[in-house]
Amino acid sequence: LSFVQEWRQVAINITIVCGSQRPSSESAKVAGHVGVLLARHHPESPVRVLDLGRSPLPWWSDDFRVDGSDAARRWAPTAALLGATDGFVIVTPEWGGMSPPALKNLFLLCDGSDELADKPALLVGVSSSGGGAYAVAELRASSYKNTRICYIPEQVMVRNVCDLFAGDALVESQAARDVESRLVHGLALLVGYAEALVAVRRSGIRDSKRFGYGM
Ligand SMILES: Cc1cc2nc3c(=O)[nH]c(=O)nc-3n(C[C@H](O)[C@H](O)[C@H](O)COP(=O)(O)O)c2cc1C
Repeated sequence: LSFVQEWRQVAINITIVCGSQRPSSESAKVAGHVGVLLARHHPESPVRVLDLGRSPLPWWSDDFRVDGSDAARRWAPTAALLGATDGFVIVTPEWGGMSPPALKNLFLLCDGSDELADKPALLVGVSSSGGGAYAVAELRASSYKNTRICYIPEQVMVRNVCDLFAGDALVESQAARDVESRLVHGLALLVGYAEALVAVRRSGIRDSKRFGYGM
């Protein structure tokens, strides 16, 4: 019991990643509403938003880990933010049946380092029609090997997204309520996993020096 109590006292930092590289995207509206729900249901958890459309990251380049390079300087604040995060919400639009290049780039920037390692993430797929599942499936299949991000089993699909928002606010409709209740459930699970995985990271089990890249 004391372990559980100690566990519960950990402040869980959440970062919401908006994976669209459009400066004004529907995914950003979804990310904003996720932030509202976290503030409402998990007020003890500090929340940050990383919008890859409004705050573009440097594209992966040979020199982005070279001290003093322009890419390294631009990447450093985001690396620090991700490193201080305990759980992620990854909002991905579906583009051409994939997740956007800017989001794949983020995973390359974290390739073989510990910013995302052994931290849970809730995937939220966004589509202006009935799509979204391919982007989410792609991330489950391809983005975790060297980042060691842990996608939780629950995921939320936000379909027909343009019908769900009036400006930045969720509309009053059954479809909007259904999406919101899925999000609330997914976020509660995310926070639970985030609390649990603190213990895994503190355990020192991971040997990043020896096994820096997954198989
Ligand atoms: C380049 C591009 C490709 C797209 N391909 C798909 C797709 O494969 N499946 C889908 O459901 N929607 C597709 N869409 C529409 C998105 O679902 C729509 O733009 C939605 O608003 C989410 O993207 P956003 O967050 O960038 O606004 C595509 C949009 C763009 C810009």
